[in-house]
Formats: sequence, structure tokens, C-alpha cells
Amino acid sequence: MKAIAVQPGAGVPEIVERPVPEPAPGEALVRICRVGVDGTDYEVIEGSHGGVPAGDDRLVLGHEAVGVVEDANGTGLEEGQYVVPTVRRPPAGVETNDYFERGEPDMAPEGEYVERGIVGAHGFMAEYITSPADCLVPIPAELAAWGFLVEPISITEKALEHAYATRSAFDWQPESALVLGNGSLGLLTVAMFTETLGYERVYCLGRRDRPDPSIDIIERLGATYIDSRETPLAEIPDAYEPMDLVYEATGYAKHAFESVDALAPNGVAALLGVPGDWSFEIDGGRLHRELVLHNKAIVGSVNSNRGHFEAAIDTLAALPEGVLEAIVTGVYGLEEVDLAFPKATASVPAGHGATAAPNDDTPIKTAVEFTDI
Ligand code: NAP
Ligand code: BGC
Ligand code: ZN
Repeated sequence: MKAIAVQPGAGVPEIVERPVPEPAPGEALVRICRVGVDGTDYEVIEGSHGGVPAGDDRLVLGHEAVGVVEDANGTGLEEGQYVVPTVRRPPAGVETNDYFERGEPDMAPEGEYVERGIVGAHGFMAEYITSPADCLVPIPAELAAWGFLVEPISITEKALEHAYATRSAFDWQPESALVLGNGSLGLLTVAMFTETLGYERVYCLGRRDRPDPSIDIIERLGATYIDSRETPLAEIPDAYEPMDLVYEATGYAKHAFESVDALAPNGVAALLGVPGDWSFEIDGGRLHRELVLHNKAIVGSVNSNRGHFEAAIDTLAALPEGVLEAIVTGVYGLEEVDLAFPKATASVPAGHGATAAPNDDTPIKTAVEFTDI
């Protein structure tokens, strides 16, 4: 079968031949339909995050997938059922551990998990995968074409669950939310704030000139675009308003600290980005005081568990299809795999892809299609 693999830090994604995997007891064989690409995939390709399984020199990419059960292998799943695989698995040679037993692999510390397509385990960009049945979340057929968005939406489901948990000790009624980053995770999260979470005022920070399709999406959702080159994060309370909730999806390390200044009293910032090392100066005393005297919180969040995937499927069903069509700027077959990774190859001819870009050909969210849905 064909798969898309990379030598992290040493190349661009390429098509490789691999044997079709055999499901072990408790596992199903899944024929992959579509797999999304996100910022983490580029970090893996560059070699700044993740790593290959022991003994391999290449990693099969892909952690945002939707597929169809080909061989249920006695697991109780139904053949023909569309499913979305979760990302984390126990480390190689380990059957389970407390985190997986509790259904909270997303809370496992490093060394207690691998992540398919990211760190230590091959991903889902292959014609077939095998997976334990309890890591395959059923999705209705009518949503399957967008099923590769369930994993990134689940990331926000988890982050917001944790952010809200930090505010659960008092009567918190958030009205304003600021998303940092107009990449695919940021835009999906803006859509969640405006369409499903009922925030009255939603803002999104980017660093792009108009016209830009991501700005069009932000404004079409009724949110306000803020250019970080004109209004730095810390100045947003004066220029716009202090924010009840900040959701960081830039991976720009200064934003972790500047978010505290952007928050309203009693607000919370959720950090999602995965930056590399970067030393810079901050006024730690002021930051400490701001957090204490204004009851502010910062929470980091990574990965998501099955419950978040289930919530994400409900969210996906509630998002307007037009918005999904605008965010997903291209779904590409294996013969045009380079177009699915535009930032790895820097070549995006206009007019390609099953879903055309809304205004111009700047890619936002891309996916690879292995099998028609
Ligand atoms: P992405 O497509 O690369 O999006 C990042 C966006 O942030 C880009 O649009 C970029 O703008 C913008 N940006 C970066 N620095 C900025 C600045 N100083 N001011 C304004 N905008 C800025 O990545 P993604 O897939 O959306 O993911 C976002 C981040 O979350 C990544 O770091 C990724 O690794 C991380 N992530 C974490 C989790 C988790 O579980 N914690 C899950 C998924 C993703 P330009 O495009 O104009 O450069
Ligand atoms: C994935 C998560 C993963 C995280 C850190 C994200 O892009 O969506 O599932 O835990 O990267 O590797
Ligand atoms: Zn991801």
C-alpha cells in the first residue's frame, strides 16, 4: 500500500510503499479516507517536534484522520462504519498504563505515550491502518467528508474544558474571547466561539495583509481581525477591550506572557502552541502581580481524549458547512501530495484541489484523500 512518510529534518513528505497492516486481536483494519495537515505536521517535517519510531528512519505522517472500517476483526465495530482514530497510544511494548486505563491518555507525561504520526509511532497517512477498537470513534456518514477536522476540534474541546475548570469556583460569565493565530486551529476555534459557544464578542489576532482568505473567514463569522503588527497583544485591552478568554494558537512564545496583559480581571488564557526554545526578557514581577491581584489563570493544554472527540463530532455537526468549505482550501490526491504540504514545498498553483480556495490561492487547511467518501 502507499503511505506518506518523511525523514524529519532532512526532507519533504514522499510516497513510500508499506505492507498492508494485519489487525491484532482487539484491533480493526481501517481504510483511510482523508487526513488533514496542521502546523504540527510542519514541526515534525522540520524535525523540531516529535520523532520516528525506534529502529526506523522515516515516520508515516498524519494524525487528523477519518476512515472506514474494512475488517472489524471481531471487535464489535461495524464494517462500513466511518471512524476517527484518536492520536495517543501506550509506548511500544507497553500494553497500557494508568493514564490509558482511566481514558485520559491526553494527561500522560512524556515517555508514557506515543503519538501516531507525531512521536514514536507511524501515523494515518496510509491506505490502511490498524488500531485498537476503543481508539476509533464512530462518526455519522453524513459528516465523514469533514471527519479529519474532528481531531483539531477535539484539541479545542479539551483546552476549553480545562480553561473553564479553572474558573468553576465562581460565577464566571465570559463574553469576550481572543484567538491568537489565524491558522487552521485558530480559525476552527474562532468558528466554535461564534457558532457554538455563544460568545458575544470574538477577536482573532494574525499578521497578514488584506486581502487574505483567513481574514475573510474571521469577518464572515462576525469576529474582529486584529493585526499584531499594528496592535501588539498587550495593547489590545486599550485598543479593543480586555478579554475574558484568550486562546493561543500561534506557537509564538511571547504570546504566552503577553496574554496575561490582554486578559480582563478573572480571565483565563489557554496555551496551545508548541514553540522551540527562545530566551527573551519579561517583567516577571509585574506578571506575577497581575495574575494574583486580578485572579487570572494560564493553562497549557495538549492532545485530547475520546470524550473530547465525541464532543468534537457534535461541534462539527453544528458548524455551518460554508465555513468548513472556506477553511479547507484543498483536498488533494496522492498524485498531488506536494500541494497538500504547501509550506514544505512552497509550490501552490492556483485552481488545484477538490475544494477551491475562497478568494485567492493562499492555503489554510489542506488534506490528503486516500479513498473517496
Ligand atoms: P499554523 O497553521 O502554523 O497557524 C499558526 C498561525 O499563527 C499562523 O497563521 C501564523 O501566521 C500565526 N502567527 C504566528 N505568529 C504570530 C504573531 N506573532 N502574530 C500574529 N499571528 C501569528 O498552525 P496550527 O495548526 O493552526 O497550530 C497552531 C499552533 O498550535 C502550532 O504551534 C501547533 O503546533 C499547535 N498545536 C498544538 C496542539 C496541542 O495539542 N497543544 C494541537 C494542534 C496544534 P502566518 O501564517 O501569517 O505566519
Ligand atoms: C496534535 C495533538 C498532539 C500535539 C502535540 C497536535 O498537533 O493535534 O494530538 O498531542 O500536536 O504533539
Ligand atoms: Zn494536530
